[in-house]
Amino acid sequence: MKKDDLKNKILKILVAQKDYYRSGEEISLALGVTRTTVWKYVKLLRSEGFEIESISNKGYRLNFIPDKLEPVLIEHELQTSCIGRKTQYFASITSTNAIARELMVQDPAHGTLIIAEEQTQGKGRLGRSWISPFGTGIWMSIILTSDLKPSDAPKMTMIMAIAIVKAIEAETQIKVKIKWPNDIILDKRKLCGILTEMQADMDRIYWIIIGIGINVNQRADQFPDEISKIATSLYAHCGVKTSRIRLISRICNIFEALYEDFLFHQHLGSLLEEYKSLSITLGNQVEATSLAQNLVGRAENFDEDGALLIRTADGILHRIISGDVSVRGVNGYV
Ligand code: BTN
Repeated sequence: MKKDDLKNKILKILVAQKDYYRSGEEISLALGVTRTTVWKYVKLLRSEGFEIESISNKGYRLNFIPDKLEPVLIEHELQTSCIGRKTQYFASITSTNAIARELMVQDPAHGTLIIAEEQTQGKGRLGRSWISPFGTGIWMSIILTSDLKPSDAPKMTMIMAIAIVKAIEAETQIKVKIKWPNDIILDKRKLCGILTEMQADMDRIYWIIIGIGINVNQRADQFPDEISKIATSLYAHCGVKTSRIRLISRICNIFEALYEDFLFHQHLGSLLEEYKSLSITLGNQVEATSLAQNLVGRAENFDEDGALLIRTADGILHRIISGDVSVRGVNGYV
C-alpha cells in the first residue's frame, strides 16, 4: 500500500469516530498492518497538525483536525452521490481548471472534484489571472459530464452561484450576494469568482468544468495592492476563520441537490427566482461590457436562459448573454 493510501485509511478510521478511542490493534487488524506501522502514521498525521491522543489500553483518539484540504475529510462531510465522490488533491498546482481539462482526456468521471491548497497560474474570466495563495482560500473545479445542451452552460454558473451563497450562509451566517454572471459579493467587494469552461458542439455539451475561487481566510492586508480595494475574504469581513473543508462539502451537497432539481425539470424554474432574490445586479444602474457593445442602463430582469435584460435610457430592452457587468456602488464602480 502506498504511503498516502495508508495515511488516508488511518485518518478515515479516526475521523469516522472522532471523539472516541480506537485501539491500535483494531486499526492494525482492519488495515492488515502492524501496530508499529499504525503508530508511525499517527506520528506522521500529528506532524501535519492533527491532534491525536494516545492512551495505553484505550488507543487513539482524534481531537483536532487542521484546516487542510484532505479528501478524506471532505468525503466525511459529503451527502452527495456524485459530486465530490472522486477527488484529486494537490498541494500546489498551476490551475485546477487546467488539471480538470487534462483529466477530461484520461478519466472523465462526472462529479470529480479537483482541489488545491495553492494555484500558481490561477485563471480568471476574460484572460485575467486569479490570485490563489497557499492554504487560505478554496480553489477548486468540478467536472460535469451528464447530458446538457450548450445553452445550459450559463445556467450551471447560476446554479453554482446559488449553491455557494447558501453554503456560505449555512456555514458562517454571512449573507452574500451574486453579481451577474459569476461574482459573489460581500461588503461591495469580490469574495468569489466562478469560471465555467466547456467542450461542446452545436447540440450537446461533452463536459463542463466549473472552477470556483473563494477568498476564505486571508487577512485584508494579505491581498496584493492591485486587488486590495476590490477584493475581500470571509475572514476580512468577520475576523473568524472558516473551515474550508466544511464549506467545500456544503457547496458540493447543495450544488448536487440544485443540479438534480434542474435536470429533473429541465429548466431553472424556481431556481431563477432564487437567483433573482440573491442578485445585487437587478434593479441597479449597470454598465455591461462585451466584445459586441458597451451598454449603460438599468438591470431589469434575467430570462429563463440566464441572460441579463438591461433597459437603456432610450427605453430599449437589451439581452446580454455574456460579458462583464459593473454595478453602480459595487467594486469601486461609481
Ligand atoms: C473570475 O471571477 O474571473 C473567475 C475566477 C475563477 C477562479 C477559480 S480558482 C479555481 C479554478 N481554477 C482556476 O484557474 N480558476 C478557477
